Order: sequence, then structure tokens, then C-alpha cells
Amino acid sequence: MDKIVLQGGRRLQGTVAISGSKNACLPLMAASLLGDSPTQLHNVPNLRDITTMMIMLGELGAKASLKGTTLTIDPRGFSVPKVPYNMVRKMRASIYVLGPLIARLGRAIVSLPGGCAIGARPIDLHLKGLAALGANIKLSHGYILADNPGLKGAEIVLEGAHGSSVGATNNVMMAAVLAKGITTIRGAACEPEVVDLVTMLRQMGARIEGEGTSTITITGVNGLQCADHTVIPDRIEAGTFMTMAGITQGDILIKGCRIDHMEAIINKLLEIGIEVTPQDDGIRVQGTDHLKPVSIRTLPYPGFPTDMQAQFTALLCLAEGQSTVTETIYVDRFIHVAELLRMGADIQLHRGTAIVRGVKKLSAASVMASDLRASAALIVAGLAAEGLTEVLRVYHIDRGYERIEQKMALLGAKIERLDTTKTKDLGSTSSHWGDTPDP
Ligand code: EPZ
Repeated sequence: MDKIVLQGGRRLQGTVAISGSKNACLPLMAASLLGDSPTQLHNVPNLRDITTMMIMLGELGAKASLKGTTLTIDPRGFSVPKVPYNMVRKMRASIYVLGPLIARLGRAIVSLPGGCAIGARPIDLHLKGLAALGANIKLSHGYILADNPGLKGAEIVLEGAHGSSVGATNNVMMAAVLAKGITTIRGAACEPEVVDLVTMLRQMGARIEGEGTSTITITGVNGLQCADHTVIPDRIEAGTFMTMAGITQGDILIKGCRIDHMEAIINKLLEIGIEVTPQDDGIRVQGTDHLKPVSIRTLPYPGFPTDMQAQFTALLCLAEGQSTVTETIYVDRFIHVAELLRMGADIQLHRGTAIVRGVKKLSAASVMASDLRASAALIVAGLAAEGLTEVLRVYHIDRGYERIEQKMALLGAKIERLDTTKTKDLGSTSSHWGDTPDP
């Protein structure tokens, strides 16, 4: 098992290129099953979740191969309707094949996803939407059993207690494109990743309107072709590097990200006092030595993304004064807080809100990653901590950040990936590299 070891106190500067979005790519991969011939996806990040999805598509009878950043998916052998628990437990996004299975094969046997480190993640809205289209759905022995006696368009409200659902919107759209008649999804998710899926489905021949708003209308067609599509840049990876610039008083040009996808994140950085300047080839982010405290409330897009909550919580640990961070999407998504406390942060949790009192400095420690964004937050904190931080269970980060330590090293971070079976616990106060000056 790998861990990441990093030396705090170094200013990050330079240029970082943003990879394609994992959360856009996973539904695009599932959607390629709806076509009649091979789809090509470009700007695909080389990540553990992408590999897991490729293996799953292979088990369903499709063929997936990744060369560089281009992924080719040939759906012509797609014939197996079953996704077992050992797939779904590795990656909840496996549920994305449910819509395509019902629409294309007329039947699905898909394991129900289980618990998750970021809290309860029900799939009731996915099932409600697919049932409204006419799928017969039963739950039995931990599996969703579905068959399709002929999907028909319907009016579907997909808003849950925590707002719209990205996954349910995507899954229902992927079934509705092949249903007879018109489907209207109300309370649809507006995230850029949903819009990206619509862009590709439309290229395949689907008839969809309203993406990026809360009402999406789909007119079913008889069949879909292949697509040649470039995945949007990862706004969460870009946002994570922005917090790294902020916490190290650094100066980073974030290349290849879409400023129009990042408004809520950029507005918070500006409020904190971090300089953000759009440039021709990206966004320049310059830190400050006076981080101001702010209030953050996570919300569905275009609100502040839950996937940036942990990284901003880490950043605010060093702001001058008291910040509040309220999580409304996954109210229990605060496991990183206990680890930040071990690094000297002052944070109190109160019913879905973290009250963060800024401290003068953080101190390095051995900390445990619990999920993808929590791992990123611990790395952000480690960059500003005195001494050597080691982040254990780093496999979480490999699910969603492509070559993170290489990208950070190019910005001047002292960071290394080590195999825990071959190294001793390094402790946190001595420098693994000796005292080296900032670049
Ligand atoms: C996607 O998950 C992302 N994952 C998540 O990113 C992200 O945190 C989330 O959207 C919110 O932006 C992928 O795209 C693969 P939701 P998803 O359905 O689609 C509730 C990361 O770190 N809900 O939009 O599963 C749900 O519990 C990951 O990259 C229901 O109540 O999220 C949550 O409170 C983690 N019933 C809210 O809706 C349902 O049937 C939004 O969830 C579905 C969801």
C-alpha cells in the first residue's frame, strides 16, 4: 500500500495542466453502451476509477482500450446484464450502467451500492425515475432486478431532500433517450458533467433540450450511433490546485480549466483574499499572507461544490478568524476534520457545520485518508504544515487525481510516494530530505 510523504513550508509556483474530468468521464463511458459502434473519448484521465469502469464494461461484453488519453469503447458485444457486488463495492459510479442496461438489453441485475465514507448515498431517485419510464424494478438479496416491457416517456421529478441528483439525472437520461415519446425531467441536476453527457448523447443522435437548467426534455429515438467526444476538464482538480496556491502563498497558472465551470470556487477564493486572474491559457492564482475567514455552504451547481469542501476547510485552518463550512449535500462528509485536528487545526463540528478558527500554523503528522477529497485536503494541509506529513491509504487519491505527486513536484513541492510495506514510519518532525530552501 502506498503513502504520500510531503515536506511543508514550500511555496508552489509554476504551471499545472488539468486533466479530463473523472466525474464527467464515468457516465460518458456508460453512455457509449447505447451506441451501435465504437465511441472515442479524448482527454480521458488515467485513474483507478476509469480502469475499474473499463473492466466493468469488459465484463458486460463491450471492449474498452485506453491509448494515451484516448479511450475507445466498442459496444457491439454488450450482452451481459449483470453487475456483481465486487464491482459496485469498488466504485459506486458502476450504477451508471443501470440505465443503458435497461434501455439496450431490456434487463438488468445490478448490485445495490453499500455504505460510503462520505455518508448515506441512496439511489432511490435513480430507481424512481427508471420506474416512471416503465421499467419493472425489484430489490432482492442486495440486487436491483429490472426488466423493460417497453420504456415510455414520462414526467419525472428528480429532486430529493438534498436537492438535485447528478447520478439520477444521468441514469434516467440514458434510459429516456431510447424510450418512446417525450420525457421531462424536473429538478434535474445542472452540473457541467451532466451537460457534457448531453453533448455526447446529442452527437450520438439523441434529442435532448434544456441541459444546464432544472428542466430537461428528451424525445426518444429508435437507436443511437457512436460519438467522438472530448471530456471536459476536471473543475475539482483545478479547484484543488487553486487551494494549494492559496495555502502556500504560491503563484500557479492552472492551465486548461474552464473558468465558466468554476465561478463559485473562484468567488470564494477572492473573498478569502486570494488573487485570481483569468489568462489566455488558464487561470493564475496567487496566494496571500492574510487569508480572510469566510462562510461556505455546499450546494448543487452552480453553488459551491461538496467535492471542494474538504480542501477549503484545510485552507481556512490558516485564515485569520472564524470561518463556517456547512455541508448540505453529504452532511457527514467531515472525516477529514479529525485528521486536520491532529495537525493542529482548531475545528468544531456542529450539526453539518464545521466552525474553523484559524491557527497561526499547522504541524505535520501521520494522517489517514478516508476518501478521495479528504485525501486531497490532507495534502493541501500538509503543504503548509511544519515538518513532514505522511498521508496513509493514498489509494483513495488515485481514484480521482491523475499523477498528483508529479504535478505537485513540478510546482516545487517536496513530495514522494512510498510503499508502506518497504518503509518505516518516518515520524513527522524530522525532514526526510534535509533542510532544502524553497525553489
Ligand atoms: C456525484 O455523485 C459525484 N460522483 C460526487 O463526487 C459528488 O459529490 C456528487 O455528484 C454531488 O456533486 C460522480 O459523479 C461519480 P448526487 P452522485 O446523486 O451522482 C442525494 C467525488 O468526490 N441522493 O448528485 O452519487 C445524495 O445522497 C464524488 O468525486 C438521493 O437522495 O451524487 C446527495 O445528498 C463523491 N437519492 C444528493 O442527492 C438518490 O437517488 C446529491 O447526490 C441520489 C442522490
